[in-house]
Amino acid sequence: MADLTLHNIGELTTNDGQKTADGCVVVADGQVVFAGSAADAPSQDGNQVDCRGNTVLPGFVDAHTHLVFAGDRSDEFRRRLEGESYSEIAAAGGGILATVEATRACDADELFELSSSRVKRMITAGTTTLEIKSGYGLDLETELRILKVAKRLGEEMPVTVKTTFLGAHSVPPEFKGDSDAYVDAVIEMLPVVSEFADYCDVFVEHGVFEVPQARTVFEAAAEFGLGARVHAEQLSHLGGAALAAELGAASADHLDHATAEDARALADAGVVAVLVPGASFTLGSPQAPGPMLLEAGCEVALATDCNPGTSYFEAMSPIIALAVVQMGLTVDQAVRAATLGGAVSLGLDGHGTLKPGAPADLMILDAPSAAHIPYRPGTDLVAEVYKAGQRVA
Ligand code: NIG
Ligand code: FE
Repeated sequence: MADLTLHNIGELTTNDGQKTADGCVVVADGQVVFAGSAADAPSQDGNQVDCRGNTVLPGFVDAHTHLVFAGDRSDEFRRRLEGESYSEIAAAGGGILATVEATRACDADELFELSSSRVKRMITAGTTTLEIKSGYGLDLETELRILKVAKRLGEEMPVTVKTTFLGAHSVPPEFKGDSDAYVDAVIEMLPVVSEFADYCDVFVEHGVFEVPQARTVFEAAAEFGLGARVHAEQLSHLGGAALAAELGAASADHLDHATAEDARALADAGVVAVLVPGASFTLGSPQAPGPMLLEAGCEVALATDCNPGTSYFEAMSPIIALAVVQMGLTVDQAVRAATLGGAVSLGLDGHGTLKPGAPADLMILDAPSAAHIPYRPGTDLVAEVYKAGQRVA
């Protein structure tokens, strides 16, 4: 007995074999029981949805966000447009540390309020699974508050959430000039924060954390069961990607300055390349070498990197547009990366596909093909969103 049948689908992307025209998806108990050609579909009972020739694809899996934050940094955005660089603003006490100050000043309910309105818009824009990083607390109390808010978002909203402890996002004012001492402090947070985190991340960058410091943090985090996700090669080339490969990390993220050698190492180690073209767009910096990473055999994911400094994107559709137009992915590569790629990086089996047994997380686009997502940037084409078979937007 089906609960829901979507029929008359013009273009069906399942990430499990060929795209299908005249497609049909049958859902029971929140899971896909059939997705394919209408001619082969089993009994189509339950709630009937006529897709009128429109497109159906898996919900977006946004595998890299920093969405739990307070404060406003639009002034920095203006300053950058007038010539100051991201690193200069950060060195002058702005950047991440400005958000840390605002976030420390918020209690859990205030942070939940701010974050849940972002998540609500993300769901409306087709996102059904999210990764959320801490990293705007930089002390035990606030890092914990952020991670708990992130978990609560996943419990109270119709979205799957995975959390990442990013205590090593920047050196806080209390440890100014002594990043080694702060690395020790981050490691001391692990026994407590690991209860609320699935992964650990480090911003590996000149002037932030060096590769040996990151290795120490990741090795300590592994003892608490946290897999590694690495902010690597974003503003310069420092060796974060090679470290991710060495550690067998779940993901290496950003990768704007990754080399062909990095690409081979990531592919060989099975590390997912999580690319965030919104950050490169906002900073006016080069896009990551997506085609080269794919060519090397990497699984590529696309993500918003939603954060108040470098990439205040909530929706995945414009990220797909940037990946296609500026990074050089094909439409099919970008759509897969925005769905299945993210799920692979988060170890969520079945997510990001519409194969039998997968959660019925999907969207109906008001368009005849997924190519309309990048072809018509700025037009909201997401008509309906389903999470575990329930209509949520
Ligand atoms: O992913 N690179 C470090 N972290 C964020 C930016 C954070 C911020 O500027 O607030 C990023 O780009
Ligand atoms: Fe990031």
